[in-house]
Amino acid sequence: MSEPAGELSISQHAFAYQPPPIDGDFFGKHIISVDQFQRRDLDILFQAATSIRKRIRTQDRGLTELCAGKVMASLFFEASTRTDMSFQAAMRRLGGDVIAVSNGVRFSSMYKGENLSDTIRATGCYADVIVLRHPEIGSSYEAGYYLDLLNQRIDNPTVAISGGDGIGEHPTQALLDMFTIFDQKKSLDGLTIALVGDLKHGRTVHSLAKLLAYYDADDVRLCLVAPQSLAMPADICKLVAEHGIHVQQTDDLREIIAQTDVIYWTRIQEERFADESAYSRIKDRFIMTPSLLAQAPADAILMHPLPRKHEMGTRADHDVLDADRRSIYFEQMENGMFVRMALLVKVLRGVYV
Ligand code: NCD
Repeated sequence: MSEPAGELSISQHAFAYQPPPIDGDFFGKHIISVDQFQRRDLDILFQAATSIRKRIRTQDRGLTELCAGKVMASLFFEASTRTDMSFQAAMRRLGGDVIAVSNGVRFSSMYKGENLSDTIRATGCYADVIVLRHPEIGSSYEAGYYLDLLNQRIDNPTVAISGGDGIGEHPTQALLDMFTIFDQKKSLDGLTIALVGDLKHGRTVHSLAKLLAYYDADDVRLCLVAPQSLAMPADICKLVAEHGIHVQQTDDLREIIAQTDVIYWTRIQEERFADESAYSRIKDRFIMTPSLLAQAPADAILMHPLPRKHEMGTRADHDVLDADRRSIYFEQMENGMFVRMALLVKVLRGVYV
């Protein structure tokens, strides 16, 4: 996707903007960062996601009343399959409508030079919720700041949900990842969780590491497996350790795989490398293959936010890995829709489901 012609930089307001803590009440709140969440908020959301999943399975028609009359705008300035479609599907299954710029954001006024804050406010005039994915860190903070200003002026307030801001965060992915871990393991207590791959540019692992810390479970070990050049940012390591999680950093998964309960694999984020040769040097460092997975415990789970490329080996390797019952990335993907449904109901209606 080509770069928008407009002013790319995020304003100083974005950097000063603090999204509101959820504090047990999601209604009307922007979802910008996992920093807004505590254990209680996750418990509320996961209860709602579990209930919604059950209601979908039983074809409960009442679901389509939950967001009837509400409009979600899908504003994606970066490629997406799962985040975009699961949000759209979530909104439609709740009876809401979805709008987007006809023919995609490449035909939005940002390509005439409009800045993000104006585009956000235009969208805010028409929608109840905006899901934004944008290549710049801070873009979702910019959206929160300017929507708060707009909301004082218009009849119908709008919330922003981040669908990923560059190499910053991907809060809703972390929510669905945590939901999946609970779904499979029932508790975080005593788990050893390995995050593997591009921990520098991977926004999903930034959000997930912090969210694991905020849950405040007992005796959690976090293994950060990456080459030094793609290590997890130091501030996130520090935050996680301060929350009592035992953090181990290594560049060799074989050291820890036999003791790992959750293996979270990630793609090397090719599009984030300024230098193609740096990517080429590193891209084959971590490849999950059937023989590597064979070293993991029988009750381990293998997760991946997807999309995957060669970091899960060849197409033939994919087929073998996919057939392994420890691979739960398809369930993880489906959970994304349930969790996003729960989130939409909570921010738009605030009701119990
Ligand atoms: C991730 C993302 O966009 O950050 N994908 C997703 O939302 N499921 C991971 C990636 O692109 O590697």
